Amino acid sequence: MPSHGFFRLPLSLPVLLLLVLHLKLSADALGLKIGFYDETCPQAEVIVFKEMERVLNVAPSLAGPLLRMHFHDCFVRGCDGSILLNATRSSGPVEKDGLPNLSLRGYGVIDGVKSKLEKACPGIISCADILALVARDVVLLSKGPFWRVLTGRRDGRQSSAQETLTNLPPPTSNISQLLNAFAKKGLDAKDLVVLLGSHTIGTSHCSSFSDRLYNFNKTGKSDPSLDKNYLQKLKSKCRPNDVKTLVEMDPGSFRTFDSSYYKLIVKRRALFNSDEALLHDEETKDYVHRQVAVAVAVAARGFPAEFFKDYGVSMVKMGNIEVLTGSEGEIRKKCAFVN
Ligand code: HEM
Ligand SMILES: *[C@@H]1O[C@H](CO)[C@@H](O)[C@H](O)[C@H]1NC(C)=O
Ligand SMILES: *[C@@H]1O[C@H](CO)[C@@H](O)[C@H](O)[C@H]1NC(C)=O
Ligand SMILES: *[C@@H]1O[C@H](CO)[C@@H](O)[C@H](O)[C@H]1NC(C)=O
Ligand SMILES: *[C@@H]1O[C@H](CO)[C@@H](O)[C@H](O)[C@H]1NC(C)=O
Repeated sequence: MPSHGFFRLPLSLPVLLLLVLHLKLSADALGLKIGFYDETCPQAEVIVFKEMERVLNVAPSLAGPLLRMHFHDCFVRGCDGSILLNATRSSGPVEKDGLPNLSLRGYGVIDGVKSKLEKACPGIISCADILALVARDVVLLSKGPFWRVLTGRRDGRQSSAQETLTNLPPPTSNISQLLNAFAKKGLDAKDLVVLLGSHTIGTSHCSSFSDRLYNFNKTGKSDPSLDKNYLQKLKSKCRPNDVKTLVEMDPGSFRTFDSSYYKLIVKRRALFNSDEALLHDEETKDYVHRQVAVAVAVAARGFPAEFFKDYGVSMVKMGNIEVLTGSEGEIRKKCAFVN
């Protein structure tokens, strides 16, 4: 009888192997993975990228809303493409109709990508995965980081406007409200500070922050934490009750995905209370300051290494929120409608 310690374990080798295999198989069946479409539609990711390249050449301002769309999708009912559904006679108001939708644009772009994919591989690629791939590609095409997108999401069949209000934190949020909203989705303080770095690209409507200019915390005054010069600049662009004007969120480089968002926060020039809030938690504050402190290294390298690496990790985490996989949900034929 060999006295290898191994065989004295309560589980025999075959049982152990089976267990490991089973765990791996069920993880594959239940979770997302890199290259989910490698066999069924190997050209899928290239089709998406080429289409996004074409679209952003013509309409560069769509990078912001298309990135934001994946966030809104994931935070409401998980990343299931429910943000894309149109209202029907029986559905009631859908996520698109919810208040936080303001400025979400680019639905037509997603429909365009989908129809290209349907031509190449009918009925294979989910709308939820398209949103995840598009988000990565617009970041990359804005000179941001690349990360491998996990795929295999399936599309949901329901969408409700009411759920946007309870799941998407408003820009007036303080730090504890942000941390809570993220914790509910399995995201932590680091994910929060990293993902808010998305505000390095895009624009905002004056109405999303005008309370800070004219009626902060219902005081009838401006937010004392805003840089005074910046406050004047914003006031000259945004008159009270202006709901139309767009302001660059990261002035000067709002089309480049970089780490200057963190610089703005330190200078008290962040647009939303929810951005400023990152200074009110030790961990998020340290992260913000560190991104500013490494400016010399960033200049030498050409990109912010820590932020770029973290961004991909947190985007993958966000892309995992309450996903439908396996035989759940469906693969929509048209992203605006359930089959
Ligand atoms: C943590 C809570 C967050 C809050 C309170 C918040 C709030 C906002 C608001 C109010 C706007 C301006 C909308 C407008 O008036 O047009 C905006 C824009 C944007 N947000 Fe966020 N956001 C958050 C997190 C995120 C995350 C996690 C992402 C991406 C992963 C993201 C990506 C964007 C982008 C790219 C824009 C620019 C959109 C455009 O150019 O039209 N945000 N956000
Ligand atoms: C969905 O509804 C929007 C208006 O809310 C409309 O512009 C769009 O054309 C609709 N999409 C489809 C595919 O019918
Ligand atoms: C966004 O929601 C508001 C308020 O519910 C609604 O009036 C508006 O039409 C919606 N905008 C879009 C683009 O769907
Ligand atoms: C954030 O706002 C909530 C609700 O108004 C309040 O209960 C909480 O104390 C605030 N937290 C901080 C850190 O200000
Ligand atoms: C907002 O106003 C409330 C009530 O007046 C006050 O308790 C709170 O500290 C204020 N919050 C900020 C961030 O100034």
